[in-house]
Amino acid sequence: MSGVVKVAFGSLSAPKGSALVAFVGADMKPAPMVTAQFGDLEPLIRAAAKASSFRGAQRTALDILAPAGLDASRLVVVGVAPGKDNAPVDFITLGGFTFGKVTGAKRVEVAFEAPAGTWDGSAAADFALGLRLRGYRFDKYKTRKKEVDDDSSEAPDFVIGSSHAVAARAAAQDRFAVAEGVELARNLVNEPPNVLFPVEFADRVKSLEKLGVEVESLDEKAMGKLGMNALLAVGRGSARESRLVTMRWNGARSKRTKPIAVVGKGVCFDSGGISIKPSAGMEDMKGDMGGAACVVGLLHALAARKAKVNVVGVVGLVENMPDGDALRPGDIIASMSGQTIEIVNTDAEGRLVLADALWYVQETFSPRAIIDLATLTGAIIVALGNDVAGLFSNNDELAQRLAAAGEASGEKVWRMPLGAAYDKLIDSKFADMKNTGGRNGGSITAAQFVQRFVKETPWAHIDVAGTAMGSQSSDINQSWGSGWGVRLLNRLMADSYED
Ligand code: BES
Ligand code: MN
Ligand code: ZN
Repeated sequence: MSGVVKVAFGSLSAPKGSALVAFVGADMKPAPMVTAQFGDLEPLIRAAAKASSFRGAQRTALDILAPAGLDASRLVVVGVAPGKDNAPVDFITLGGFTFGKVTGAKRVEVAFEAPAGTWDGSAAADFALGLRLRGYRFDKYKTRKKEVDDDSSEAPDFVIGSSHAVAARAAAQDRFAVAEGVELARNLVNEPPNVLFPVEFADRVKSLEKLGVEVESLDEKAMGKLGMNALLAVGRGSARESRLVTMRWNGARSKRTKPIAVVGKGVCFDSGGISIKPSAGMEDMKGDMGGAACVVGLLHALAARKAKVNVVGVVGLVENMPDGDALRPGDIIASMSGQTIEIVNTDAEGRLVLADALWYVQETFSPRAIIDLATLTGAIIVALGNDVAGLFSNNDELAQRLAAAGEASGEKVWRMPLGAAYDKLIDSKFADMKNTGGRNGGSITAAQFVQRFVKETPWAHIDVAGTAMGSQSSDINQSWGSGWGVRLLNRLMADSYED
């Protein structure tokens, strides 16, 4: 895979040409491990710090070139002094930040020890995860790699020196399973829509079989038999066939435990259909399968780390295009649930896909809980921007668990309201409902629509239109497709549903 950073745990030697990373707090004293192996570096660090007003604060670093007394060509000193809030160090972010400070180096050795106090194996594994998340790159379509451009130079190989190397290595196996899941989701979102159309997406999901995930793909004929006319209606204007793909991971002690269902919107390209979108920025709609990408990435992560939980993933894969045979505003279609839908805007297509995918997952698996992820509305970006996703739920406990997993993972959700007054806005003159409720509260009426296809089961809908793609670069993500949600739901499973 392109852009996967190599990280190993081992002993340090900081040979010629390498970069050595050490951590300090406000007192500029490196950890005992550093002094034991490389001598007293404090005077050197002090002098350099003084010359550059480095005070050891978090998210600051000092790059000492050709450090006297070391073979290494760089000594990169990273600050970990506690901030005003005294919050504990976030090691994933620290890994990502550190990666950003060592670009250009070929080999980086990290003396992973707290300047004072202790960092355990799990902290080292988190640090390694941060390195990988930051190091992800999607450059498979670039034929010219510019040597001068920092950004396209090869990522360094990392060696992490830790006195808890055995525990770190063990913990890192789980972290790297998650990293692979995030990388997979990012790849799917970043791929162009001429390459990643529904059938190709379905083929890529097949690759999860080697991890022990059962994958089943329904073609249009099979979906027609099941009455999935809402999903099929979206794909009608496309030359590409639609697919519905089911992924099952049964890692719980009892294979009979009802699964948690995770459902993703997989619109491989959303032109808007007959209600066509303006051309500015339309290329971003290749990422309208970000929800589905997250589901696939999650299943990869769970299977690769052999999570003790039963999960079923379902993704509805379609392309929304205008065509002589495309769905029209005014059309009335019958969904798999039997409820009829008046189409008033063909650009409100994601909810049609979710309607049938949700009905199917309930009919087929009677899940314990359902979580759907969808790049559903531009309105959620207006409301929450690109840092926090919109959460809608019929169940306080599930909502609370997701909020907690969000805080713990850094992939945050913010709960939005649901209610009868909003639901009324999608009643239709001609059918059971219409597929939009107008501009105001657009994310909420979209969620109300989705809820009409959920029975009694605890359900949460996460609108990831702002977070799945195009968010600001961060310490742990420099990619347009962020893979958002894989770490959130991995955390949710680990904290709330695993045996
Ligand atoms: N895929 C879009 C939502 C979207 C917008 C995702 C921007 C990511 C970035 C969705 O299918 C859509 O077009 N929604 C419409 C709904 C409207 C027609 C009721 C929207 O948000 O404008
Ligand atoms: Mn749309
Ligand atoms: Zn869409």
